[in-house]
Amino acid sequence: MTVGGRPNGAPASVGVVGAGAMGTGIAHAFLVAGSRVALVDVGEDVLPRSVERLRTLLQQTHYRGQLDGAPDQVERRLQVGTDLAAVAASALVVEAVPEVPAVKIGVLGAVEAVVAADTVLATNTSSISVGELGQVLEHPERFLGLHFFNPVPASLMVEVVVGPCTAPEFRDRAVTSVQLIGKEPVLVRDAPGFASSRLGVMLGLEAIRMVEEGVATPEDIDKAMTLGYKHPIGPLHLTDLVGLDVRLAIADYLSVALGPRFAPPTLLRTMVEQGYVGRKSGRGFFSYE
Ligand SMILES: NC(=O)c1ccc[n+]([C@@H]2O[C@H](COP(=O)([O-])OP(=O)(O)OC[C@H]3O[C@@H](n4cnc5c(N)ncnc54)[C@H](O)[C@@H]3O)[C@@H](O)[C@H]2O)c1
Repeated sequence: MTVGGRPNGAPASVGVVGAGAMGTGIAHAFLVAGSRVALVDVGEDVLPRSVERLRTLLQQTHYRGQLDGAPDQVERRLQVGTDLAAVAASALVVEAVPEVPAVKIGVLGAVEAVVAADTVLATNTSSISVGELGQVLEHPERFLGLHFFNPVPASLMVEVVVGPCTAPEFRDRAVTSVQLIGKEPVLVRDAPGFASSRLGVMLGLEAIRMVEEGVATPEDIDKAMTLGYKHPIGPLHLTDLVGLDVRLAIADYLSVALGPRFAPPTLLRTMVEQGYVGRKSGRGFFSYE
């Protein structure tokens, strides 16, 4: 089916705020689906890296025969910059800035000030309550969580987090957008950590505590889960992939929201302070040099 020149009726225009690991992946997903994408970040040095990564992803999608058009043609639908006004015409805006409530709240308020009344506003938060983030919005009924997984191109699902004020019309539009980028929507009621982070982070934190206590090496802890429990990736490799800084922020948030069982182990905090934040820094529980 072709709708408005797009292969499947995906939103004509999508805004993504934050061009880090997740924002870049989300931008790629909507470019592949045929949307125009405005990608905004405050860090000017971040944007060239994001564009480079997007080019690689588009090439890979092209080689797999899954891109409608040549990569450079598809790239023409991408606009990158530091001015938030670029997302003004978007039917959907996804916020993917750091997991810090004050930063997200600031961005969401600023986005709402420039978009149309019927724009769907989404946060890619991994853990923070959608109700809490939506409090500042004038129209929280259009706001919800779209929790994409890392790496976005390889992930099969998106958690759709329905906030206390989210209206069914906006929820349904978000669910349709997720389906149109080829992912399975998983509907979750707004609760700290949702379904996936609450369980996934708990496993990761316990694995870190086991390293701390010398129960086993990171390699053996991961092997126990991949070979013993058939997890596709071990909890420590996954922590490296997600980013130790991202996981620390989630654990800090969940330990307040859900209790001390989510308190981050000292080792996690120390590694983040030392800059060992996982794959993106070349070293976490494993080395990537
Ligand atoms: N990394 C993961 O595995 C993962 C998975 C699912 C969800 N998430 C969530 O996605 C969000 C982003 O995570 P990430 O790993 O992409 O982080 P990241 O640090 O790679 O990227 C965040 C980007 O936001 C930019 N930014 C900061 N303040 C901004 C502002 N005011 N306006 C515009 N841009 C701004 C930063 O410059 C940076 O490029 C977080 O909420 C995180 O919890 C992460």
